[in-house]
Parts: sequence; structure tokens; C-alpha cells
Amino acid sequence: MGACALALALLVVAGCKKKEAVPEDEAKRDGKTPADFPELAVDVFKAMDGGVVLKENEIKGRNTWNLWCAGNQEFWDRVAREELGLINQPGYRQSTKPDKNGIWLDEAVEPESEAIKPEVFGRATGVLGFRLFDNPAFTGEAAKNWNAEKYYSDPKYATQKGLVRPYRVGVACGSCHIAFNPSNPPADVNNPKWENLASAIGNQYIVEGKVFAPNVKEGGFFGEMLKTQPRGTSDTSRIATDNLNNPNAINPIFELSARLAVAQEETMGGETLLIPEEKQTMNVPHILKDGADSVGVPGAAIRVYVNIGMFSQHWLQQHNALIGLAPQKPFSIKLAQEHSVFWKATEQKVTHIAEFFMQLKSFRLEKAPGGQEYMTKEPAVRERGGVVFGQNCASCHSSKRPPPNTLDEAAWFAQEAVKPEFRDGNFFSDDRRHPVTKIKTNAARACGTNARQDHIWANFSSETYKRLPSPGSIEVWNPYTEATENFPIPEGGPGYYRTPSLIACWSSAPFLHNNMLGKETNDPSVAGRMEAFNDAAQKLLWPDKRLGKESIWRTSQECQFTIHGDYLPPVLKVLLKPYLDPDGYLRIGHVPAGTPVNLLANVDPKTDPKDLVVLLLKIKKTLLEIKAQNLDSAAAREVMKREIAPALWKVSKCPDLVEDRGHYFGTDLPDSDKQALIEYLKTL
Ligand code: HEC
Ligand code: HEC
Repeated sequence: MGACALALALLVVAGCKKKEAVPEDEAKRDGKTPADFPELAVDVFKAMDGGVVLKENEIKGRNTWNLWCAGNQEFWDRVAREELGLINQPGYRQSTKPDKNGIWLDEAVEPESEAIKPEVFGRATGVLGFRLFDNPAFTGEAAKNWNAEKYYSDPKYATQKGLVRPYRVGVACGSCHIAFNPSNPPADVNNPKWENLASAIGNQYIVEGKVFAPNVKEGGFFGEMLKTQPRGTSDTSRIATDNLNNPNAINPIFELSARLAVAQEETMGGETLLIPEEKQTMNVPHILKDGADSVGVPGAAIRVYVNIGMFSQHWLQQHNALIGLAPQKPFSIKLAQEHSVFWKATEQKVTHIAEFFMQLKSFRLEKAPGGQEYMTKEPAVRERGGVVFGQNCASCHSSKRPPPNTLDEAAWFAQEAVKPEFRDGNFFSDDRRHPVTKIKTNAARACGTNARQDHIWANFSSETYKRLPSPGSIEVWNPYTEATENFPIPEGGPGYYRTPSLIACWSSAPFLHNNMLGKETNDPSVAGRMEAFNDAAQKLLWPDKRLGKESIWRTSQECQFTIHGDYLPPVLKVLLKPYLDPDGYLRIGHVPAGTPVNLLANVDPKTDPKDLVVLLLKIKKTLLEIKAQNLDSAAAREVMKREIAPALWKVSKCPDLVEDRGHYFGTDLPDSDKQALIEYLKTL
């Protein structure tokens, strides 16, 4: 993982400025066609993924996954270096001298294959998933004015608006998804070999805030929010924001064909039907933790390209990036097909990504170096574990299902789960959505709204999803009143988690959608993974061992909430104008240390703007008073409790603050059964 790694800043300032004209993407403006961006059929990543042998389409799919940026280099644009948990590319090392433009890029010891055409896929940066493209605007005056020395030494120069840099960085899916093969870990995490890497295992080490927002200042609320974000998670609804702080684990992808075998029938409507291979009713897997992405694999994959910057010309017009607090409009598939060459080029590629996923099998602990030492030697324990798993877990965590009309399903599962072949071709998930009222894990991710009717991803969710009933009310703990309160979840999609696969769960702890159950070891060796797994498994089955209320994300220091008036949605901009500082910023704070982050972060954008302004001003005034009176933390907390918390609680889109709760299946079992179950989980 890179001491010398590469970081990208989301260009909040330069990148997200809205333009009004009918948008076209860059390739279309340059007169290119999808034929200019062909797939790559040469097997350039042969040693990856346990050396799996792939057919031509699967090879194309893996190359697209690892290399193709779909023109998002226009959206991502800045280079910096830090310790970020990114994965270094084999054959590249930190350079000893800058390049012709004065930029310090990793240099190739073994350059990548010439089959990888730079005009299609960019060049290697030295960090997997990040690709380098020449900046077409870097000519004439702009190139002459470029000062590389100043770029590294003067943050003001480096972050100024309108600075034309020599390169642009594109982001491929591999940036977040490639990581170390659990059953073949690298001897040196900074210098992995290709055979140590797996394309879709999920990067459990990435520190997203530092990678995508490296210039965030200390003492700001946004920085405090990023500090509490667990390693290995990404808040995929941050840019097109749902006004919920709900980062989630980058999960591994395995056994797609077994997953498709249990896919449920749902109905599609509207522009969704323009996605290739889409039908009015079809069986779809429930992609994403909340099962919102329910239009089939090609549609789900192409949506992520948009979410990481493809055809941002249109996308950014449909929402108020990062800030939200205003109604969204759906991303239009029709417009993308007409105006984005990158969309069309990606449409042609995504089915091969799906074919590649079909080939991804489990990485087994027994095959990992020293793995067997962590497993029981007693067949009876393993067998008992299978029975317990069959009776308590398999109804959700198995894609192998009892035949129709089976009277006692638990008995069927108990009988099957002990057979060695039960795990072959089993996705270890039913791929169904379950109400969060039953799962009882933190509800913030399940409350996401981006795929609801009229929201940004409305065309990427099924009609079935958009018509889901409310799962009811959940019980949430209020740290100010120290009482449990009811929170009703709205109808229309939110409120569910689809069952995650348990394949290779020995390698992917901490557990749960937010990576919040169990300790984080940040160590990809077998020993490091097993330490994390054992801790998470204990906490899963013995809830007393959990952090509980201590798992609430809180500000680590006094901080300020700062936002420039220009980034407020139009209505709020007008109403708040008199309250902006002379430099155009709205400042609220100082927020006391120890304030629950999500109480401030999860303000429902549906709140009436006038009420929201009254609330913001009240918070501003109260926090100023706390500061002026120099209250100690206990007194400040009292004022927060009396004046601010109840009002914020009322407008919260999800006031569920305890992060490591749920689920509690199996927690009533005798200890010996729990131990046997843990042994069984290690074999998946
Ligand atoms: C910034 C990090 C990031 C990047 C880049 C990224 N992903 Fe992901 N990916 C995630 C996270 C986080 C999840 C889990 C999200 C969830 O389930 O809600 C995920 C999950 C997935 C899943 C599995 C979902 C499931 O239900 O098992 C697929 C498929 C996927 N991503 C496709 C893509 C594609 C295609 C790209 C490239 C266009 C991509 N991802 C790029 C972070 C990323
Ligand atoms: C009613 C369905 C259901 C049952 C029964 C069930 N689970 Fe789960 N399980 C889920 C769902 C849904 C999640 C995702 C929760 C979340 O991430 O918020 C989950 C998450 C998990 C995770 C974390 C996976 C990860 O990748 O983070 C583990 C481990 C797990 N379950 C094991 C078990 C075991 C062991 C049993 C039996 C004792 C069991 N489950 C019973 C539905 C179920």
C-alpha cells in the first residue's frame, strides 16, 4: 500500500460549476465514436485472480474493469501524494527524477503491455485503477505558465481555480475494487506481484477522504466527518448526495451465476427500458447494500461509471453536488445515449464485465499459507457448525434453496449444509431485500433515497423498488435524552438490506455494511485477516462484546461548518444572503467536540427551506453563545441538549447513530454452537 501513492482531489471548486447549455461529452465534441474506444482482448492481467483461465469476452471484461475510465478524467483532475491505502501497481516504483513537465510520477521497471493503448485507457500511474491522460488544454500559454516547482511547494498555486495541469487522472473501477488476494498475500504490501492481486475483492484499506478530498482543512466539519469514516468504505452517495452520511464497505464480488440463479422478478418502466437487454419484467440481482440498484447487471455497472464522473456534463446539472439540500432530477438515459460517446462505448463493454464476474470463485482459507492452522481439526465440530448454520442462517445466507413444497426448510438446510459440496457454486446469500426492522443493523445506508422516484438514479431502479412499502418504524437511541425513540421509515424504496454473500468472509472483516463490527487490523496477511475475523465473529454472536453506544461517530475536536454561498441551492442562497460573512461564506460553529456527526450531517433536504434557515440561524447563534461564554464541555453539552439537539433530531433523515448494532440471529445459541458456527464460517 502506497507510502508513495497517488491522490485525487474532487475539484469541488473548478469541477462542479454548472453550465446551462445542452451538454455533450468531450469525445462527442472531438468528433469521436465508440469505435475509437475498442475493448482490449489481450490477457494483460493473466496472473491476477488466482490465475483463473478466461475466455475472450471475460478477458475483455476484466480489462475494462481494471483500465477503462469512460472519459471521467475530465471530472477528476489533481495529483498529490500521501499514505492512503491504495494498491501499488507491480512493476512501478517511486521515481528518482521528475518527468518533462516536472511531475513526480512512478517510473516503470517493467512497463505495462503495449497492447494497452494510451488513447483509450491512459497510462499507468503506479497506483492500480488510476490512469493518466494528457490534458488536451495543456498547450500554448497554459503550458508556458506551468510551474511544477510551485505546484509542489505552494498549495495556493496548486489548488487555484483554472490552473491547467499537464495531465488528468481517470478513475477505473479497479481503483476501489482491486486489492490483495486473501489466499496469496504479498510478502511486501508496498510491492505486490500480479499473482497477489484480485480484481474484485474490494479495497479494504482505502482511506477515502484522503484519496478523494486530500485538501480538506483541519477544524472543519467535513474533515471531522471524513475522520470518522471507516477504512475500506466509500460513501457512494456523497457527490450526488442523499444528505445522509452513510459510507459503506467495498464488498467482494463472487459467483455471479449462482447469484443470478436466485434473482427475483421485478418490473421496469420509463427510460430504464432504454438500457440494452432490459425487459418490462425480468429477474434482477439486488445490487448495492440496500438492493436499490435493481435493473440488472449491465445497467448497474454503467450507472457506476456515471457516479464516478462519466458524462458529468449532464449528471452535474441534475443535483447540487456534495451539498444537496435541494430536489434532484433523474439522470436521463435517453440524453446519455444521444450526447455521450463515452456512454455508448461503455454500453458496449459492460456485458463482458458481467461475464468476467461469473468466473470469480471463493478464495479459501484452507488454501491460504498457514490457513489450516486457524481451522478446527475436529470433523464433528465442523459438522455441528453446518447444522447450526443450516438452522439459523441459511434461510437468508444460501443461494441453494429447498425444493418447492419442502415442509421443514430449516431441517433441509441443516441436512444439506453439512455436505462438502454445499459450498460449491453457492453464493451464500438469497439476494433478497429484508426489512431493516428485522435485520436491526444501523439504518442510515438503508435510508438512502437516490434511486427513488424523481431522484438522481430513478432510471436505474425497478418500479418494484420504487413501490416498496415502508418496513415500519425502527428504534433508535438518542444520546441527548438517553432514551430509545421510534423513527418511521418512509415508503417508496428505503428501509431494506439485501443479504450479503458470506463467501470468503474469513477474509473480509470487519463486518456489516459500514465495516463497523469488529476491529480493523489493516493487515492483509492471513494472520491479520484472521485476527479481524475472530474479533468480528465474536462480536456478531456475543453482542455484549460490542462497542454499542461507543460506536457513535463524534467530532474529535471543536469544528466549524463552512460553506460558500455560491454552493447553496438557489432558495437557501437568497434566504441566507444577509447572514453570510463579508467573504461570502456561511459559517456555523464552533461545534463542540463530541457532537454526533450524523446529527448534523443527516438533515433532511425535504425540510421547508424557511424552517431550515430558522434552524441554521438558531444553531449559529447558540454555538456563538457557547463560545462567548467559554462553557466547559459538560455545560456546552447541556446547551446542545436543550437548544439544538431536539430541533436537529426532528429534521433528521435518519437519526440512527449507534453504528455497530444488529443483526442478532444466533445470539441465543449455546456457546459451543456459536464456536462451531464460527468454524463453519471459516470454510466458506
Ligand atoms: C470510490 C470507490 C468505488 C469505485 C471507484 C467503484 N466502486 Fe463499485 N463499489 C464501491 C462500494 C462502496 C460498493 C458497495 C456499495 C453498496 O453496496 O452500497 C461497491 C460495490 C460494487 C458492486 C457490487 C454490488 C453488490 O451488490 O455486490 C459492483 C457490481 C460495483 N461496485 C461496480 C462498480 C463499477 C462497474 C465501477 C466502475 C465504473 C465501480 N464499481 C467503481 C465503491 C466503488
Ligand atoms: C433474515 C435474514 C438473515 C438471517 C437469518 C441471517 N442473516 Fe446474516 N445478514 C443478513 C443481512 C441482511 C446482512 C447485512 C446487514 C448489514 O450489513 O447491515 C447480514 C450480514 C451478515 C454478516 C456480515 C457480512 C458482511 O459482509 O459484512 C455476517 C457475518 C452474517 N450476516 C452472518 C450470519 C450468521 C452466522 C447467521 C446465522 C446465525 C445469519 N447471518 C443469519 C441477513 C440474515
